[in-house]
Amino acid sequence: MALVIESLARERLGVREADAFLTRLEQALFDIRQPLEALYGEVVDIDELVNDLVSDAIDAAAARPEKLRIFDRRREIDPVWFQRSRMIGYVCYADRFAGSLEGVGKHLDYLVELGVTYLHLMPLLKPRVGENDGGYAVQNYDEVDPRVGTMADLQVLADDLHDRGIALCVDLVVNHTAREHEWAQRALAGDPVYRDRYLVFPDRTLPDAYERTLPEVFPDMAPGSFTEVAGLGWVWTTFHEFQWDLNYANPTVFRAMLGTMFALANRGIDVLRLDAVPFLWKRMGTDCQNQPEAHLLVQAFRALTGLAAPGVALKAEAIVNPDMLVQYLGAHDRYHPECDLAYDNQLMVMLWSTIASRDVRLAEHALSRRRPAPQSTSWVTYVRCHDDIGWAVSDEDAAAVGLNGFSHRRFLNDYYSGSFAGSFARGALFQENEVTGDARISGSAASLCGIESALAAADEHELTLALRRLESIYAVVFSFGGIPLIYMGDELALRGDPHWDDDLAHADDNRWMHRPAMNWAAAEYRNDPRTLEGRAFAAIRGLADARRSLLALRAGGETEILPTEISSVLAYRRAHPRSAPFLALTNFSNLTQDVDAGVVGRAGLQAPRHVHSTTGELIVDADRIQLPPWGFGWLTGT
Ligand code: GLC
Repeated sequence: MALVIESLARERLGVREADAFLTRLEQALFDIRQPLEALYGEVVDIDELVNDLVSDAIDAAAARPEKLRIFDRRREIDPVWFQRSRMIGYVCYADRFAGSLEGVGKHLDYLVELGVTYLHLMPLLKPRVGENDGGYAVQNYDEVDPRVGTMADLQVLADDLHDRGIALCVDLVVNHTAREHEWAQRALAGDPVYRDRYLVFPDRTLPDAYERTLPEVFPDMAPGSFTEVAGLGWVWTTFHEFQWDLNYANPTVFRAMLGTMFALANRGIDVLRLDAVPFLWKRMGTDCQNQPEAHLLVQAFRALTGLAAPGVALKAEAIVNPDMLVQYLGAHDRYHPECDLAYDNQLMVMLWSTIASRDVRLAEHALSRRRPAPQSTSWVTYVRCHDDIGWAVSDEDAAAVGLNGFSHRRFLNDYYSGSFAGSFARGALFQENEVTGDARISGSAASLCGIESALAAADEHELTLALRRLESIYAVVFSFGGIPLIYMGDELALRGDPHWDDDLAHADDNRWMHRPAMNWAAAEYRNDPRTLEGRAFAAIRGLADARRSLLALRAGGETEILPTEISSVLAYRRAHPRSAPFLALTNFSNLTQDVDAGVVGRAGLQAPRHVHSTTGELIVDADRIQLPPWGFGWLTGT
């Protein structure tokens, strides 16, 4: 380690902090240098780059508020702090939940009542004006969206959340900036230094060559992956034409994004959600996702943020196939720390697939053949998010259980868009691709579970079944070994927003149907068990209460699928060295199911004991366990 870095640290950080920083640096130096050398070794002097970045980290560490240093210390003692059973997440847009950041601060009692200990606020950095993909087109990374508040408000909120034991996660849009970002504007004005921060081509030759192997993310509303910009050329725009992909082959881009990470960390952000992270590096002849360099970038971000703010975790938003996905948690041939958290997209897809098919075999197969996540990391498990559901069902997994992948995906689209005869779901197709026949699904969890249709039909029995579906899939995400995320409104069985397309800026993007504003009037009924809201709220809160005390439900570790003789019952086991094993059973059918109690023994449970279930009791006799229609049961033992 260069002497100059050492004296810089001592000078800027004081004796104690410098000592801690330098110890971390000694440990991390390989993890910092190796990826940077592979990425930039040929374009810059690598010693100089490492020195510059480490010196940025020293500045960030020096600016870190004392209160956050205390978090750092705690989390260095317990680096898997996010795995605790009491971690329960909630995801919302600040403006849609409570108008502003200040408004969010006024609703913390509500979150605490629900058991929330992790709050993910959707994009809140200053977006471009007008259509901005729900905030995923950032104009200025140093400012908060003025519609929701200021950086100072964000810091105050983080502080208030911490006082309540709630960690704060925010989005960081790393792959692209808005066309209105200062860099893009300077590029437009002809400055080659700024043009080189994006991927700009003089004509269609290279874009055409790339597009031969590039899938389209938004084939319907934003076809193609390049946009012609007058005076500049063809700009790489994976998503919308106003979202310009950054050129990470340019180390200046990396350094600036790292600077944003440091700044957010020092405002009190605990978890950074790295948006669209698979797209960071492009390579001719590939789909330009999950390239080795994208991983090197995340490794370098990880190592450097850990230096300045060791209490901060990184979360990958990588909606890619499971073998690719687990690599964002560092699972390569040799473990390379990357993100601490990643979305368990496959579990989410399998839950919806199973609800529609009422057959767990595909889920059993797909979920049991996955590579485990590294022990120091965790999945975030979820039922719904602000995006569409893309049917990540591989042809191989489908074939293994006798299904045709394409037909099954088509069936799921028909089922959830409501066109399949007898379907209770009220969703809609998103980005139907006429060329490939693919489509995805929009719709709120409540509407996809049948709550909307049951209400419309005033069918009390159907409503109960639909609510049970919602509770049961939440029961899975609360017990599958990740941090469960509650998507805003699901706790009140909030349906979609029927007026989502009134706002013309969103009219071609039906994901807005499941991004409604919070209904605080409905929330008033949350403690009234006679109401839909009361029933949903009690169900979700009940899961949080039960989960908190179960060591086996800590995130991390392994979940073992235990096939039963009944094709509509999903059974899995969790264990923790310091507790009795845990067994979850979920019935994905309209019928009562009597499961052979042998599964209890196979799960290693002695003296099985009911801990939580749909109805609050579980009939377990010597050879049968009874599960009500769409019901679940959690058991533990001694
Ligand atoms: C992520 C976001 C999605 C957005 C895209 C582009 O996938 O979740 O909403 O459209 O990135 O930023």
